[in-house]
Amino acid sequence: MTEQETMAQILTPTADPAWVLSVDGYDPLRESSIESRFAISNGFLGIRGARAASRGARWVVPARTYVAGLFDVSGTEHQTPGLVPAADWLRVRFLAAGEPLLLHPGDVSSHRMTLDLRRGALLSQGSRIKAPDLGLRAQTLRLVSLSDRAIGLQLIQMEVDSGAVDVTIEASFEGMELGLIHDRLDQDVGVWHTTQTGKHLAMASEPALQIDGRVHPPSARGKLTWSWSWKCRPGQVVCFQRFVAVVRSDIPDTDPGLEARDKLQSALHLGWSGVFAAHESAWAKRWHDSGVEVDGDAVAQRALRFAIYHLNSAANPSDESVSIGARALTGDDYHGHVFWDTEVFLLPFYVLTWPAAARALLMYRFHTLPAARAKAAGMGWRGALYAWESADTGAEMTPLEVLAPDRQVIRILCGSQEQHISADVAYAVWQYWHATGDDGFLLEAGAEILLETGRFWSSRAKLEADGCCHIRGVIGPDEYHETIDDNAYTNVMARWNIRRALDVAAALRERWPACWTTLSGRLRLDEAELKQWRNVADTLVTGLDPATGLFEQFAGYFDLEDIDLTKYAGRTVPMDVVLGRERTQQSQVVKQADVVALLGLLPEQFKGKAAAANFRYYEPRCSHGSSLSPAMHGLVAARLGDSEMALRFLRKTADIDLADTQVATDGGIHIAALGGIWMLTVLGFAGLSLRDDGIDIDPHLPGDWHSLTFRVQWRGRCLKLRDDQDKQIVGSVLEAGEPMVFSVRSKPHELRQGTGLQVSTARL
Ligand code: BGC
Repeated sequence: MTEQETMAQILTPTADPAWVLSVDGYDPLRESSIESRFAISNGFLGIRGARAASRGARWVVPARTYVAGLFDVSGTEHQTPGLVPAADWLRVRFLAAGEPLLLHPGDVSSHRMTLDLRRGALLSQGSRIKAPDLGLRAQTLRLVSLSDRAIGLQLIQMEVDSGAVDVTIEASFEGMELGLIHDRLDQDVGVWHTTQTGKHLAMASEPALQIDGRVHPPSARGKLTWSWSWKCRPGQVVCFQRFVAVVRSDIPDTDPGLEARDKLQSALHLGWSGVFAAHESAWAKRWHDSGVEVDGDAVAQRALRFAIYHLNSAANPSDESVSIGARALTGDDYHGHVFWDTEVFLLPFYVLTWPAAARALLMYRFHTLPAARAKAAGMGWRGALYAWESADTGAEMTPLEVLAPDRQVIRILCGSQEQHISADVAYAVWQYWHATGDDGFLLEAGAEILLETGRFWSSRAKLEADGCCHIRGVIGPDEYHETIDDNAYTNVMARWNIRRALDVAAALRERWPACWTTLSGRLRLDEAELKQWRNVADTLVTGLDPATGLFEQFAGYFDLEDIDLTKYAGRTVPMDVVLGRERTQQSQVVKQADVVALLGLLPEQFKGKAAAANFRYYEPRCSHGSSLSPAMHGLVAARLGDSEMALRFLRKTADIDLADTQVATDGGIHIAALGGIWMLTVLGFAGLSLRDDGIDIDPHLPGDWHSLTFRVQWRGRCLKLRDDQDKQIVGSVLEAGEPMVFSVRSKPHELRQGTGLQVSTARL
């Protein structure tokens, strides 16, 4: 293939419409949400889908580049650290006969931007640019490499239709002083530092221009600026290429400039086609391992592709010092802070399709354990209380106040009261260990997290006169109700956390006694304390009413005003805005899945008909004031066999970022909701659950779905699963690894590598 043909192939998006997301033209009102949705990322670098070419002063939107872990404290009153954007390395400016081509929407007769989900690239095609003396057609591509996360690539190819004028292309970096202070700016590299957190950033870049296949050296160059001038003529093909290499260093007083230059040199050595090929095959591997195919529902398929694209874009298995913020690297809502979203809504995807990424995310919690211990100690408890909002150090980052929609300043209590995060982290640690069998992780980090969080709950719960332990003054997942006592979600998760801590202590003692001696010695954990943990777990109230099987969401919840939410159908604002904060707090209106989330995470805690009873009670009371909520409801509805209701929740979740009608997407995509789409599908519709000796499937596909196909990994094995609803057959193939148990609706079968298994679900 000639270079020209390779370029043409690279610049052509995947033809199958199910693999791309496109937007035509330009709508200033929707531009911000498009930028979020069309973001590209590799877990280290994230770039919003803003256009690269200058459109004049009124239209300039820098393509924000986020670097994972690049937190700094802004000059705000409360000094909340947030992600600071790096310079926009994609800027280009065109001049024809000395006049800038501003590319106002009116100057571009057609413009289509395409996010190629399969190849992880943002492309634009068919831009016809008309200036008085010049007609051009342009195609562009940008990517951040999934194979070498430091590297970004930009390609612009232009064909001259008409005009023979002097043209200039200027390439530069923009926003170099947006949040960072530069240490040095050379021609090919810039080095910056954060103002307060001691981090450094280096960006090295080398653009090149070819005219009709021949390299055209820059006519001028300065500090991270280059320009090329020549006389164009019809038929000319101009190709602009730019690499960037980005390196973050967390070590104060270092200069990562050299490393960035080295990385740039390796990329230049590979060339754009080599960089693209490596990136494309890294994406192919991710799609192979994590793709989900739905036959019979194009809308759900599209939602899953979009979700899985962003999930694969968000993680970086080689950086244990960062986790995934609530908007991943696609926008700055929540300042890049990390919430329970990661452990509860994202980890299931990574654990089952990308264990190395899951491990790195959990190691971030291990590295931030000292801050979690300090938070617990600062509040008078033992063990580890993780930050509700966490950044780079793990210290509590939740702002103390925010501005409500009615412009009132309201106090935020989540940072001190939303403590279930500690149990959520423990839950994810356990699930990871259980699913991967990664004992090395348990010994290095997981056991300590489980023990320290278990210890936190054992000190947090207090024995009272009724002979029971209580946890008072918390906020559950439903943040509409604050300073509540005995939140069922918190208490049941806490009890589960303590019991798993006891299990891990027993496992260590039995299987790795030397490790136990060291760890228990270091944590000063003795038999008396373990006994106290057991007592707390055995006497902690849960709010369960044995007569009805209902968990009371928190003490006193059943006495609150019951509001019929169907009367508010069609509202466009959250229920706490409709009712006002005070009345909401006095009502049973729930912001998001709370008892339902418990049902999603620990279904075994709901015996017999209790699962359905709790879901039927709480589902109508939930106002879905958080993007996390519908998917969790969908997961539970699917497991309960109501696949049509589950499908409605899937569509509602998909609309959050794709339709941009429910919540604002301007500040980034909602990565937890996207994780929820995968959970709903694989854990809900396919009904996948982990057993001690393998995996179980209990499918409940929506009526129109013919089949659902996906892969998961389990303890070093790779399985391909397919639920064929039309034929009422569940098929599974063990593609790699030792024999294992694969059960369908609790009926176990032995699965061996190479031999497929087909199980009829007709009579099960
Ligand atoms: C939700 C939290 C969530 C956070 C970040 C809030 O609105 O209530 O549960 O962790 O957003 O996504």
